[in-house]
Amino acid sequence: MRPIMKWAGGKARLAARICEAFGEPCRGTYYEPFAGSAAVYLYRRVQGRVGPTVLADLNTKLMAVHRALRDDVEGVLRELVLLPSEDWRERYYDVREAYNQGPWSGKTHAARFIWLNRAGFNGLYRENRKGEFNVPVGRYARLSFPAPEAFRAVSALLKGVELRVADFREILDAAGEDDQVYCDPPYVPLTETACFTGYCSSPFGLAEQRDLALYARKAAFRGARVVLSNHDLPVVRNELYPPESGFRHVAKPRVMRAISRNAASRAKTVTEVIAAIGPLEDSEAA
Ligand SMILES: C[S@@+](CC[C@H](N)C(=O)[O-])C[C@H]1O[C@@H](n2cnc3c(N)ncnc32)[C@H](O)[C@@H]1O
Repeated sequence: MRPIMKWAGGKARLAARICEAFGEPCRGTYYEPFAGSAAVYLYRRVQGRVGPTVLADLNTKLMAVHRALRDDVEGVLRELVLLPSEDWRERYYDVREAYNQGPWSGKTHAARFIWLNRAGFNGLYRENRKGEFNVPVGRYARLSFPAPEAFRAVSALLKGVELRVADFREILDAAGEDDQVYCDPPYVPLTETACFTGYCSSPFGLAEQRDLALYARKAAFRGARVVLSNHDLPVVRNELYPPESGFRHVAKPRVMRAISRNAASRAKTVTEVIAAIGPLEDSEAA
């Protein structure tokens, strides 16, 4: 089951490998503190690997879309068909302006968000300092959306899921025995100029990466299993998720970097690391 939204760093293609990194199905609560498009949750749910679930992200407007899809999918579909189709390119900036005026919850918001996500450049979500969505129109030959049945299927998979707007620390703090957590943060940049933190106004620097590793380890000592994705860089392998602190480097998938600032680097493949930690015993404290 693919997500409704395109999302920078979305894990639809890697979901099976991430699911394998957990090993067992989740016996407690499954948490995703960096939910994005919820690709991994949707995959694991269809596979019957998770039950009670909490999905969270710091992006309020994104989480409002998941909420509308869960609670009023027919309303979202009705609003979506009212948005431009044939003349979508000419009317893109009208829809963007309407979106920026709100409302930022409910079916109208969700339909505009999904429309802009499909019509905007590379499915990017980026806001300026004033919190206004500012992605330019996409270069697609035509505008396309998943079929209504796909919307309804995603809605059914979101029923009963707790959806939260929260910082990752708050979500990881709640995880304990038998729980599983998948962490897919904005990555450590491959170079100093490459920046992947444009999802929302909050920056995600090395201090946040260190906190994430620390909170993951604390959750592992409480009995949770935590799986994390990041770029396969020495700082990630040796400083953030080092084996001596209990992290295992489960897989190193090669992926196409789909979203980037210039066309030349868009075709590049990069290596990611999928790391896992926990449950840990007190005797494993380094
Ligand atoms: C790489 S994306 C996650 C992609 C997701 N796994 C998917 O398949 O679509 C990272 C997400 O982290 C969110 N984020 C950034 N800083 C955060 C924070 N401090 N706490 C929680 N979420 C945050 C962003 O809004 C973004 O949606």
